[in-house]
Amino acid sequence: MPEIRVASVSHSFGDGAARRPVLRDVDVVLTEHRIGIVGANGSGKSTFVRLLNGLIRPDAGTVTVDGRDTVKDGREVRRRVGFCFTDPDAQIVMPTVAEDIAFGLRRRDLSRAEREERTRAALTAYGLDGHADHPAHLLSGGQKQLLALASVLVTEPDLLVLDEPTTLLDLRNAAMVRRVVDGLPQQVVLVTHHLDLLDGFDRVLVFDDGRIVHDAGPAEAVSAYRALAAG
Ligand SMILES: Nc1ncnc2c1ncn2[C@@H]1O[C@H](COP(=O)(O)OP(=O)(O)OP(=O)(O)O)[C@@H](O)[C@H]1O
Ligand SMILES: [Mg+2]
Repeated sequence: MPEIRVASVSHSFGDGAARRPVLRDVDVVLTEHRIGIVGANGSGKSTFVRLLNGLIRPDAGTVTVDGRDTVKDGREVRRRVGFCFTDPDAQIVMPTVAEDIAFGLRRRDLSRAEREERTRAALTAYGLDGHADHPAHLLSGGQKQLLALASVLVTEPDLLVLDEPTTLLDLRNAAMVRRVVDGLPQQVVLVTHHLDLLDGFDRVLVFDDGRIVHDAGPAEAVSAYRALAAG
């Protein structure tokens, strides 16, 4: 698995008197297959995961993925780190399902035939075969989430970051996304408020006010988070 190294990272948003620290001197090395992140609203989870592919540059400290710095080697890091937002509409950019998947491959040095083949394989793998020419914005919420996942996974990232991938979904679609995530060979960093998604994960970090306050297996971390929330 890739090694994610977050060293002495602090980050604030806002200027002047409105400046607020959001991450406070976070140090962690992640090498496990499935890593979960939980914590209260505003505790810094999304900010943390956005550091992992350079979507956010830390004010202080460094973030590396397999030794590549997310700021200095941003382009290389983004090739290796796939990112899925909570709201798939934020990520779907092309009119049809197949075009959206193929869009992720535009910068790859692939022949047209290879591109089409990879797109077809992704459609099949994520249960979207029948929808290749379907307008992407007309898919159901769960299908859009799968399309967003497929469009990222077709680029074959080494690490997949998912920021609350099931929050907008009904039970059936959440279960579908879960099955896809469970079957991924790639390293996964998953932020969620759906704590049962973390069963079987290797490691779970609990964030509170910009710090990692618990770092354990899922059962222990989730019960620490419940205790914190009951506070
Ligand atoms: N781009 C931004 N500009 C200003 N403030 C921001 C920005 N992004 C996040 N923040 C602030 O940083 C804090 C942490 O936000 P973050 O999105 O990391 O929290 P979170 O743990 O993901 O919460 P949630 O569970 O609600 O998604 C919040 O107070 C938020 O308002
Ligand atoms: Mg968030």
